[in-house]
Amino acid sequence: MAAGIDDIAIYIPRLYIDASDFAKARGLDPVKLQKGLGVSQMAIVDANQDPACLAANACLKIMQNNKLSPEDIGRLYVSTESAFDESKAMNSYVIGMLEQVYGQGSFEHCGGIETKFACVSGSYALYDNANWIRADEADGKAALVVVSDIAKYDMGSSGEMTQGAGSVVMLLNDKPRLLEFDPKVTATSIKDEYDFYRPFGKETPIVHGQYSNMLYMIQVRKALEAYKKKVIKTGLIKMESGDTILDHMDYINMHLPYSNMGKKALAYLVRHEWRQLPRWKRILKEIGMEEPVPKDPRGTIESVLGDQEFMTKDHEFTKLFTKTQEYQEVYEAKLSSSLIASTMIGNLYTASLYLGFRSSLEFEYQKGVDLLGKRVGFGSYGSGSSAMVFSGVIQPGFEEVVKNMNLESELGDRRRLTLDEYEDLHENKLTPENSMIHSKKEFVLVDVKTDEESRGERRYVFNE
Ligand code: COA
Repeated sequence: MAAGIDDIAIYIPRLYIDASDFAKARGLDPVKLQKGLGVSQMAIVDANQDPACLAANACLKIMQNNKLSPEDIGRLYVSTESAFDESKAMNSYVIGMLEQVYGQGSFEHCGGIETKFACVSGSYALYDNANWIRADEADGKAALVVVSDIAKYDMGSSGEMTQGAGSVVMLLNDKPRLLEFDPKVTATSIKDEYDFYRPFGKETPIVHGQYSNMLYMIQVRKALEAYKKKVIKTGLIKMESGDTILDHMDYINMHLPYSNMGKKALAYLVRHEWRQLPRWKRILKEIGMEEPVPKDPRGTIESVLGDQEFMTKDHEFTKLFTKTQEYQEVYEAKLSSSLIASTMIGNLYTASLYLGFRSSLEFEYQKGVDLLGKRVGFGSYGSGSSAMVFSGVIQPGFEEVVKNMNLESELGDRRRLTLDEYEDLHENKLTPENSMIHSKKEFVLVDVKTDEESRGERRYVFNE
């Protein structure tokens, strides 16, 4: 039985901090954010929003767009790394909110959990739900997989320029209009690491940014190697000599903690793949320098990052490599459209990869590309750490879904925060009743109880 993504919807908070305002306040060059990281705006949650209501708003959108009733849904998973409870799962809050609209008990038949593994857990949730459908356990029902996060770093830290917030929901079924997952080729890698983590009770993560970036690329590359073995073994893709697996992916979506990380990761993967091929000689000639090697090629990530001479040369080599015509063609055709939404919204942790997929669909369609039959590859990464590589093929019904995608209208009237407003929100100085926007037809948080008996209980309403 087939399984895949039938539709996709997003919910992005309407407040944002502009990169130029942020850079000015922190004494940074705005070009570092805009060109160096690919960050123009970062979406920020209002005082009456949390990751559960972002998720519920995305779910309501996809249900209304598809005229779905609760009876059509068999599972609702929420994947997040912004959990606010150690036990009660975020999907239960989402069910509670949806039942305010669809009626008490209307989702009673439904199942689901909250999943956690930094930014990769949404990909595991997609895989598990796709298998639930493939196993014919779904009884004709669909699954909703929601990825929802608030990417928030300490004020003044280097991570603060890679924040954002939002939710993406995917409707999964056995006759997907958008993308059918390739069966039996999903591949993973995993390693116990401390590149980015958030200990109990801490609202913001502890991050080793450069370490994490390198680990991300290494882990995705390992998962890509495993994926390659699987596609060859299953016969999904026929590889000719001189081919790389990336030649057989029409689109490549990468995890995007900031938009330029997608560029970095793609360059790393392509370099690794091409290095073994006849074309590499031609590329090296065009670059005009040998590929640098660390002093200790078998060393640790720390030793490589600490090898200043290598890092400088490697940076120079990467810049030249990404300017070669062959690489530019790959970048433009396979990745560039997926990065557009990220520059306007920022980091969405679990949702970043899927916002990128959504962005790629909309902007490739606008270019006039016929998406039918195109193979889409996904490079998912979660700190801590694990990577997942998988793929799918765009289905005949795609146009019905993609033609209505309009990021700009979905973002709506956004409000540019002043630095003071942003900092008040960041430091949790405002309570829900002091929200900056009075939104209509949306779920909002109204109260978090503080008394001994019911501490942590959250109340939400649907604003008519
Ligand atoms: N003009 C143009 N570009 C500039 C610049 C300027 N004035 N100053 C710096 N840059 C470029 C750098 O060359 C670099 O580009 P490169 O990656 O192509 O080399 C980029 O801007 C970033 O600069 P860098 O010095 O690496 O930034 P940083 O060390 O201060 O912080 C992060 C960057 C990403 C490490 C940091 O923001 C972070 O830790 N973010 C969180 C990342 C995360 O969430 N990871 C989770 C796992 S995926």
